[in-house]
Amino acid sequence: METPMGYGSMRRKEDARFIRGRGTYVDDVTLPGMLYGAVLRSPFAHARIVSIDTKAAEAHPKVRAVITGAILDGLKLAWMPTLSYDTQAVLATDKVRFQGQEVAFVVAEDRYAARDALELIDVEYEPLPAVVDARRALDPDAPVIRDDKDGKTDNHIFDWSSGDKDATDRVFSEAEVVVTQDVLYPRVHPAPLETCGAIADFDKVTGKLTIWCNTQAPHAHRTVYAMVAGLPEHKIRIISPDIGGGFGNKVGIYPGYVCAVVGSIVTGRPVKWMEDRSENLMSTSFARDYHMRGEIAATRDGKIRAVRVSVIADHGAFNGTAQPTKFPAGFFHVFTGSYDLEAAHCAVTGVYTNKAPGGVAYACSFRVTEAAYLIERMVDVLAYELGTDPAALRMRNLLRPEQFPYPSPTGWEYDSGDYPRALALAMDIAGYDDLRAEQAAQRERWAAGEVGGTLMGVGISFFTEAVGAGPRKHMDILGLGMADGAELRVHPTGKAVLRISVQSQGQGHETTYAQIVAEELGISPDDIEVVHGDTDQTPFGLGTYGSRSTPVSGAATAVVARKVRERARIVAGAMLEVSPEDLEWEKGRWFVRGDPDQGRTITEIALAAHSSLELPEGVEGHLDATTVYNPPNLTFPFGAYICVVDVDPGTGRVKVRRFVAVDDCGVRINPMIVEGQVHGGLADGIGMALMELIAFDPDGNCLGASFMDYLLPTSMECPSWELGATVTPSPHHPIGAKGVGESATVGSPAAVVNAVLDALKPFGVRHADMPLTPAAVWRAIQGAPLRT
Ligand code: CDP
Repeated sequence: METPMGYGSMRRKEDARFIRGRGTYVDDVTLPGMLYGAVLRSPFAHARIVSIDTKAAEAHPKVRAVITGAILDGLKLAWMPTLSYDTQAVLATDKVRFQGQEVAFVVAEDRYAARDALELIDVEYEPLPAVVDARRALDPDAPVIRDDKDGKTDNHIFDWSSGDKDATDRVFSEAEVVVTQDVLYPRVHPAPLETCGAIADFDKVTGKLTIWCNTQAPHAHRTVYAMVAGLPEHKIRIISPDIGGGFGNKVGIYPGYVCAVVGSIVTGRPVKWMEDRSENLMSTSFARDYHMRGEIAATRDGKIRAVRVSVIADHGAFNGTAQPTKFPAGFFHVFTGSYDLEAAHCAVTGVYTNKAPGGVAYACSFRVTEAAYLIERMVDVLAYELGTDPAALRMRNLLRPEQFPYPSPTGWEYDSGDYPRALALAMDIAGYDDLRAEQAAQRERWAAGEVGGTLMGVGISFFTEAVGAGPRKHMDILGLGMADGAELRVHPTGKAVLRISVQSQGQGHETTYAQIVAEELGISPDDIEVVHGDTDQTPFGLGTYGSRSTPVSGAATAVVARKVRERARIVAGAMLEVSPEDLEWEKGRWFVRGDPDQGRTITEIALAAHSSLELPEGVEGHLDATTVYNPPNLTFPFGAYICVVDVDPGTGRVKVRRFVAVDDCGVRINPMIVEGQVHGGLADGIGMALMELIAFDPDGNCLGASFMDYLLPTSMECPSWELGATVTPSPHHPIGAKGVGESATVGSPAAVVNAVLDALKPFGVRHADMPLTPAAVWRAIQGAPLRT
């Protein structure tokens, strides 16, 4: 594969170290004199702490410190702020509020001693009744979880709504057809391959705190630590080394990180804390847990007119979601999807339950996944009730290209799109009409009493995402605006260093950001070093999640490269002794308009910029620039997905036979990386649709705390993906790109579920909730009226 001088498929530069096993992850870092921390966790979902006896643990010969909530309380660190203006216990003082909550922290000479010493801590608990069902959390007799908050007598967190309620109610009151469906998006976990961890190293002499942490948002972490600890930012350095997947799980600040910091201050030595798999699944940020009631109003002949939604959102014991301040339900109000509606309204109520905190954007831009799933399920439910083909129903209602930029009924402005083209392409690749013909023939045989065999189903989803948070006028996290900085320096030899604030967790940023500079300046991407993941080395920005990197930092990169190009123009003018206005650009060189032979390459210009060449008055030497990019709008990638499944009605087993995905993320910087991102997201979708679930028993015991119980999809469950693409550039992004990292996770669950329910149509099953495990499918078939 050749290296393109800009956009195009090229191999990932970072893979040179990854495929040799030479990546550096947090757990690969060993500092001189380093100690190890371990967390004692609550066995109860809800219990009062009567006493904690740490004497035996402290007496362990290898233990250097035992930290409890009471000790942290003395330092005013027992509670920390969450990214949603709530508070979260670092170590429990009064009560434990979910199973797996942090109760004590042991620091020891090695990992094993730290773990052993946990066994020596004696905690007396007084168990309390737990509430794990979000719909029960608001009952008047539900146990109050957050009695640490003054005057709190219930489990209510927030009420939030969007859209025009009166207009929506009016459409519903006069609609020919109204369909209502309860839809659960169950609790799932981002489950990155690498679990969360940190090494804290506080230098008492310099007063500098260095934290190695696999965070997706190093600069935001630094500011939060500065606010909490009262240290200036320049005395805190966050280093995010290589990261083995984040998917939203590594955005927030976890108690283990804070304990490692306190452990380092107390012992005067670096302290590493690395959680294990069960700790990751039980106590770090989960996703979804949305109980949704959707209503759709339509004409009898299938024109969708309005959508109305109410949601109970389960946020666990502490509201630890990471989403823009003004939007407590994230971007859920993009639930109107890809359709041309007269009106829409949603109301969301957030509640506390005795479960781990979180509600993070697992491979999705702040609840966009829940929204896309709901509307795509609702459209299929409408198709079921009207007896129409779900593809035809969508085609009829999709927004048309001439409607863009499209102001949605809940306040978004979709930047660009050609939806019918994407759906038509997906149907073409899938051979949609042939699939339906095959299905009709199969159903006929089945109705005629032919027994055995599987039933095929064809599922469609069409999604619109809202990614690239975001415009400062609209959004911030903890008061921090969501603009990103970028710095570009071209050395005298024409090689360049780009410094960006976003932090890759496997998305290939070291390659694609080099490609953006290469496209703008004509320097080979191999000659452009991308520096990221170290707050001492990079400009401020809010990090990588919600597919925001390309829309925000990708734009910053293009802008800063253009600034350098303009500087190069002035230098070239001085070199050629012409006015810069008389120069024209072609990739890699400025030349005199009308005389293409008279030109200077970017390499020649770089050297001259550092030489004794006399530059015009007021022009500084060197070839570098900085920028801060504040996006004018989000970008709105979209896609059309078609899934074909075969369901065994005897066992409920689902086999995904085919999956066609047509994505439009505007201009593609590296199509190979884009396809890789889509492959990963499609596998995510199969996982959520068919097997992933963090379940709890009525006492709040977590039933999904290992990969034996929390199932992830493997290549065995995934077909060979069939991808297509359309390209509708974003009109406001400097290079026309939209985000893509999460599109497939957002769009695919509905396609899989719609396919399974399409297969079950002969049984009269209209809806069943994810995950559609064999047991769930079988139960749905048993409970439904037979329809032939
Ligand atoms: O924020 P995150 O990096 O997770 O998501 P993204 O901005 O959607 O980018 C994921 C990867 O795909 C990055 O390496 C991007 O540069 C690349 N990409 C691309 O090549 N072309 C696009 N239009 C969008 C993303």
